[in-house]
Amino acid sequence: MNRHVQSPLPVVNINGEEAVVTSAPYKRLSGVLRDEFGLVGTKIGCDAGDCGACTVLVNGEPVCACLTAVGQVNGAEITTVEGLKANGSLSRLQDAFLQFGAAQCGICTPGMLMSAVALLASSAAPGRAEVEDALGGVLCRCTGYAKIVDAVLFAAGSNSVPVIDASGSAVGKPLRRVDGRSKVSGHEKFGADSIPANALMAKLVRSPYHHAAFEFGNISRFVENHPGLVAVMTAEDVPGVNLHGVIPQFADQPVFAEARTRFRGEAVAMIVGEPDAIANLSIDAFPVSWTELPPVLACAEAMAAGAPLLHETRAGNVLVEGLVQKGDAATGLNSAVHVVKRSFSTPFIEHAYIEPEAGWAVRDGDTITIHASTQAPHMDRDAMAAIMDLPADQVRIAPTACGGGFGSKLDISMQPYIALAAWKLNRPCGIVYTRQESMRSSTKRHPSEITLKAGCDAQGRITGFDFKGYFNTGAYASWGPTVANRVPVHASGPFHLANYRAHSVAVHTHCPPSGAFRGFGVPQSAIAQECVFDELADAAGIDRLEFRLINALDDGLPTATGQVFASGVGIRACLEALQEPWRQATGRAGDFNSGNLHVRKGVGLGTCWYGCGNTSLPNPSTMKIGITGDGQVVLHQGAVDIGQGSSTVMVQIAADALGVPAEAISLQSADTAITPDAGKTSASRQTFVSGNATRLSGEALRASILRHANVSGNAVIGIDGQTLVITDGASERRIDLGKLPADTEGYVFKAQETYDPPTTPLDENGQGSPYAVFGYGAQMMELTVDTRLGTVRLDRLTAAHDVGRAINPLLVEGQIEGGVAQGIGMALMEDFKPGRTENLHDYLIPTVGDMPEVKSIIVEVPDPHGPYGAKGLGEHVLIPTAPAILNAIRDATGASVRHLPATPDKVLAAIREGSANG
Ligand code: FES
Ligand code: FES
Repeated sequence: MNRHVQSPLPVVNINGEEAVVTSAPYKRLSGVLRDEFGLVGTKIGCDAGDCGACTVLVNGEPVCACLTAVGQVNGAEITTVEGLKANGSLSRLQDAFLQFGAAQCGICTPGMLMSAVALLASSAAPGRAEVEDALGGVLCRCTGYAKIVDAVLFAAGSNSVPVIDASGSAVGKPLRRVDGRSKVSGHEKFGADSIPANALMAKLVRSPYHHAAFEFGNISRFVENHPGLVAVMTAEDVPGVNLHGVIPQFADQPVFAEARTRFRGEAVAMIVGEPDAIANLSIDAFPVSWTELPPVLACAEAMAAGAPLLHETRAGNVLVEGLVQKGDAATGLNSAVHVVKRSFSTPFIEHAYIEPEAGWAVRDGDTITIHASTQAPHMDRDAMAAIMDLPADQVRIAPTACGGGFGSKLDISMQPYIALAAWKLNRPCGIVYTRQESMRSSTKRHPSEITLKAGCDAQGRITGFDFKGYFNTGAYASWGPTVANRVPVHASGPFHLANYRAHSVAVHTHCPPSGAFRGFGVPQSAIAQECVFDELADAAGIDRLEFRLINALDDGLPTATGQVFASGVGIRACLEALQEPWRQATGRAGDFNSGNLHVRKGVGLGTCWYGCGNTSLPNPSTMKIGITGDGQVVLHQGAVDIGQGSSTVMVQIAADALGVPAEAISLQSADTAITPDAGKTSASRQTFVSGNATRLSGEALRASILRHANVSGNAVIGIDGQTLVITDGASERRIDLGKLPADTEGYVFKAQETYDPPTTPLDENGQGSPYAVFGYGAQMMELTVDTRLGTVRLDRLTAAHDVGRAINPLLVEGQIEGGVAQGIGMALMEDFKPGRTENLHDYLIPTVGDMPEVKSIIVEVPDPHGPYGAKGLGEHVLIPTAPAILNAIRDATGASVRHLPATPDKVLAAIREGSANG
């Protein structure tokens, strides 16, 4: 970077070194830092000043580099995350981020760090409020902010951190993330961060209408008239099937639409060219003519007689229906003493990961390699093989770091385009979605319209439960079938209901495809169930927590699908963990309210259960672990870590299964050419399913080493350089690994094992055993409502979650806090409207200022199937939050908000209407 200073061009000092900027002065500083100076630690999440991911210091002040023209910083000192290390070591602040688990996916981490550095430079001992203020401009979608704030306070010297004893068993310890160092140093490479300098870039032409017909004009002339463009590709250029879908039998989404588009943002063509030509290209010049067609945007419209069909084979625009019924719901309701019937609705929810879709592909002979941000490398490989008409072994998916997924990056997005361009043009090709096109084209949480009628007897025992839900599944199937099938299984909540009926319908509309988003429809159904339970408890005159205990599922009681667990049902333990906090919180609220008329406090409960893994389908995961001739223990861990911590969890499990310290294990992360198929990162399956595969592999490797050493199962394995030291009682065996024959991968000992959870199919009434393991939770929200304004302030959330066994308690807390933040967004602010809220300015997600104090209670009711008793957690933590908030608003005001989000206008309207807005 030591360029010389004699130039009319802007001169800046970047991380202590002078640099001449050759980019045009109007260029964004963020892009210049990344593209001209290779400082890709500065992230771009929106290019509009909304996310703060691009925060750098200019003369010590934090600025959004995306809103700063490089010409404005002539002569300035600029500090980026790469400049934070002192003498090659992490700074105290960076180390604190590691210690507290403040980085999950890590995409927001550089922006957070830079904001915190500026604060710490100006305030020696900031308080929590000051820290929250300083971080308020940077969005994080993963962490819920608490651990970030704690880390900054620790770095400032104003809070303490427990010392971790890393000796002995790794399972159960709050160890630092094994992949954390690159996240806090700015060296983690996300989808946009390693596109080769010689790569072409691609830009997509997308439909501006919900529903449209289109025709192309003279594409060749368009390319000729734009120097630097290399090619335009359309459906005709797809060598294999022009379709994809995460469930192969429902694959219905074209790579490029043909003649007609079914949602705003659907791609019809790809323009490929040199990076500058693509960056400067106005898409408006592309020769395509559109004819807008009438759309159907809501379920009722789409199901009405005469509505345009999105897919000819799906009558009434119904994609799929799900049903679970047991006993007789109607008879049970007839016998009830108290009956409540309510309707609820929830909108589209955007995943809003801070990393827009990005990646690059390269052709190497007969193989196409795709480096992209994904949650499901092996699924991507199989989909891409069909699209490219290649055998699967000629498609390699080598994922980049994933800057948040939450379910949406299970579906392929940009992968076909970069692969197609790289394959056909025989040059690497990259793509980086803009924030707007990410939000337009990616999958969403299904909007829901739910009616629930439930009744109980005088003692509060539920006698009948009848649920009907319509789910707007958008233009293409994506995970719609999964949502439709999962909801009826879970709509009961973690309760024992003898007379039960739940029917769900997934309906196509001309909206973006609805897919997987943390909970697969269960957060929507839980709102209905939990809010109706509160009203029933009140009608029966029973304490709301007691009401849930009366009906709680237990060991030996059948679920709604008739599944009976002999052990491991943890909802009662979670509710019991909340009993004392509930007593105290309701007392506090009562005391406050007795002296306040307009500002009211409320306390609300929500519960959850969630089956870990696929519903009644095979769900295997395979892990491999080996020891090289020079004593390296390598875990081939294909369970993509999207921030939740699966890499760390697998290392902890492998360490205990093999009987070595966690730091002895190195990691080979997901790559379809190197790691076996661990399945997708979804449905809270990795700790349970892949954790079991890891445990089995570690145990198998241990067994083969002990067999080779001819010692007992109690022997202790030590590693001393390239020598294994096996101690069995008083005897010691030494194995010189360098003298053993190595296989083609360099391993002298190796084991690979697969785990597939035992499930059974559901019959026509939805009866069966769809999951081997459920996780459970209960949350309590304390909040304050200003009844004159309708504003809601969240005071404190107490979350009790049964994880079976906390493999890493620090990561468990991080998951809870992050899930709660997303639940808060769902309850109070998030509302994606196609064409209207396609950016992070109009689509609001919680900032640090929106978060209450979150107190996590880790409950451990071991599951017999789980590795060391562990259950999944990722989806569960979001489910109870929104109902707990709605129930607390009702507790505070007597008013029910049943149509989300509960924005101040809706809260105010509900207060004014009393509780009769349903
Ligand atoms: S990228 Fe600059 S604020 Fe989002
Ligand atoms: S860790 Fe903050 S966005 Fe992922």
